[in-house]
Amino acid sequence: MINIGLLGFGTVGQGVYRILQEKGEDLKALLGTEIEIKSILVRDLYKERGTEVPLSKLTLNPEDIVSDENIDIIVEVTGDVELSYRIISRAFDRGKHVVTANKAVVSAYFEELSHLAEENGVSFLYEASVAGGIPVLKPLKDQIRLNRITRIQGILNGTCNYILTRMTDEGLAYDDVLKEAQKLGYAEADPSSDVEGIDTMRKLRIMSTLALGSSITEDDIICDGIDKISDLDIELLKGKGMKVKLIAEAREVEDGYQALVQPKALPVGSYFAGVNGADNSISMDGSYSGTLGFQGPGAGMYPTANAILTDVIDCILGTQKKMSPLRGRKLENRNEDITGRYYLRISGYDSSFDNFSEYAQEVLLEEDGEFAFMTGDVKLYQLLQGLAELEDKPFSLIAIEQ
Ligand code: NAP
Ligand code: HSE
Repeated sequence: MINIGLLGFGTVGQGVYRILQEKGEDLKALLGTEIEIKSILVRDLYKERGTEVPLSKLTLNPEDIVSDENIDIIVEVTGDVELSYRIISRAFDRGKHVVTANKAVVSAYFEELSHLAEENGVSFLYEASVAGGIPVLKPLKDQIRLNRITRIQGILNGTCNYILTRMTDEGLAYDDVLKEAQKLGYAEADPSSDVEGIDTMRKLRIMSTLALGSSITEDDIICDGIDKISDLDIELLKGKGMKVKLIAEAREVEDGYQALVQPKALPVGSYFAGVNGADNSISMDGSYSGTLGFQGPGAGMYPTANAILTDVIDCILGTQKKMSPLRGRKLENRNEDITGRYYLRISGYDSSFDNFSEYAQEVLLEEDGEFAFMTGDVKLYQLLQGLAELEDKPFSLIAIEQ
């Protein structure tokens, strides 16, 4: 019997529980042993949940799980960073494998937790933490054994992609679609981490550190979200034959790397422009493999729980190496060299915008205090510096795919 301690019983935790209920017999045949969820950590024992579970399995005390010698694998799906960091570290010390969907904790403590797991000879798997239901980290770990990955790019947040798709295709309002994404279980407990790009940035931090083999931390990534984008921006860019997506990208450049998360206007008909709803998509360029593409559900109960349980199966069968997949390259950050073309809209137009007119290669709108234009090639840092001086004037900045 393999005993699991489940931390969290929300969208993902309930998905894990439900799949194990449905697939128990098949898994027993595959693994030669039963899997049982022994204890479940929650904050509120009596909360209404959509999944029936015996009260005796629920606990408010993480110690009941981490100190239980009969628990072999911890599945962490709380979203709480500090609690999960403490429990995961202790679980490794006690010889337990850990599977998590919590990109916030993986991102914050990636190097430390990877080395601690290796030292203790246990598995630390986090496939569900990046791109929800898409198996992308396992293939990436396979590819870096031989290929040099020079670029990784993708749509990594289901909530943002769902909002942008419905705003673009149905003309719905941002706030209404965000509420729907929350109801559907896509959004984080605090959805500002989705819409401000932070969730995407954490996923890029994890993927790019694996892909380029050098630690790329949250502070190394330029990060913007979709919270400043309005229906007006979407309409103006639609008029130019473009769709807006939140794109994460890290690439190796001469002597270093560049890494950023930014809304991007893509030509309708291009690859990422066709990724809709809560789907995510990733492309990676390998020296021998060429460009590899991955696409599928980026969030949601069953896709995410499926990714978790695939990792659990790997822990039990020992089918993923326990050695840390991180490498010790030291690449320099070259974000200051990023250049591109941009769409910029500033609200509350007055003479203080005059220094921006020099960037305006094509003006899309100049009325009712709104000034929207497309730039020629410009340094991103220079543009950001200028925008910082605008103080309280709202603006939206969207990169243009070249
Ligand atoms: P959720 O629905 O908010 O559920 C969180 C669960 O954890 C709840 O059961 C909550 O207890 C429990 N919990 C939170 N903090 C706790 C604490 N300090 N002590 C004890 N219990 C605590 O979250 P979710 O959507 O399942 O997401 C869980 C994790 O998976 C997050 O890290 C998220 O980023 C990641 N993830 C989610 C998805 C998705 O589609 N939802 C996809 C990929 C990854 P109560 O029920 O008592 O409140
Ligand atoms: N809130 C996240 C998203 C969950 O919308 O993509 C999956 O990581």
